[in-house]
Amino acid sequence: MKKEIIINNLQEMEQFAKTISEELFPGFVLCLEGDLGAGKTTFTKFLGKYMGIKDTINSPTFTILKIYENDLPLYHMDVYRLNGIGMDYELEEFIYGEGLCVIEWYKNISESIPDESFIMEISIIDENKRKISLEGLGKYEKIIKKISY
Ligand SMILES: Nc1ncnc2c1ncn2[C@@H]1O[C@H](COP(=O)(O)OP(=O)(O)OP(=O)(O)O)[C@@H](O)[C@H]1O
Ligand SMILES: [Mg+2]
Repeated sequence: MKKEIIINNLQEMEQFAKTISEELFPGFVLCLEGDLGAGKTTFTKFLGKYMGIKDTINSPTFTILKIYENDLPLYHMDVYRLNGIGMDYELEEFIYGEGLCVIEWYKNISESIPDESFIMEISIIDENKRKISLEGLGKYEKIIKKISY
């Protein structure tokens, strides 16, 4: 199941993140793709806010993984730098963990992504406008069906 939505500005991105935050469950795998500056980290920050995370969420580009303890923990990964240098197997502990795992540039570790996952590809239309292509595999399919925008 696939769906495309248009986000006109940051406020709409925040609203969209709020909608997604209501669908999360332990072990949720959220895969993000999209050009540099598309808004993967920005979306994750908004998501964290609606999950109740008070800490500042920063881009994990240089650390690969940042962990935010919470009722539903957030494991925020940016695997941009892992491209072509193989997989760090410690990450799989978090991909198959008890929190929400958000993976920026997930295609770089596609061999470690579960068959069932929630995929979001963000494309830049102009400075503030984005297109989001959503795909729900397996148990995530019903979430895509539910989302109306
Ligand atoms: N509608 C929007 N949604 C998301 N970000 C937006 C939007 N409009 C403007 N922006 C801006 O675009 C930038 C997105 O940067 P962000 O770091 O989130 O991108 P990224 O996809 O994580 O990039 P990278 O691949 O470098 O990690 C931010 O400066 C944000 O304020
Ligand atoms: Mg980012």
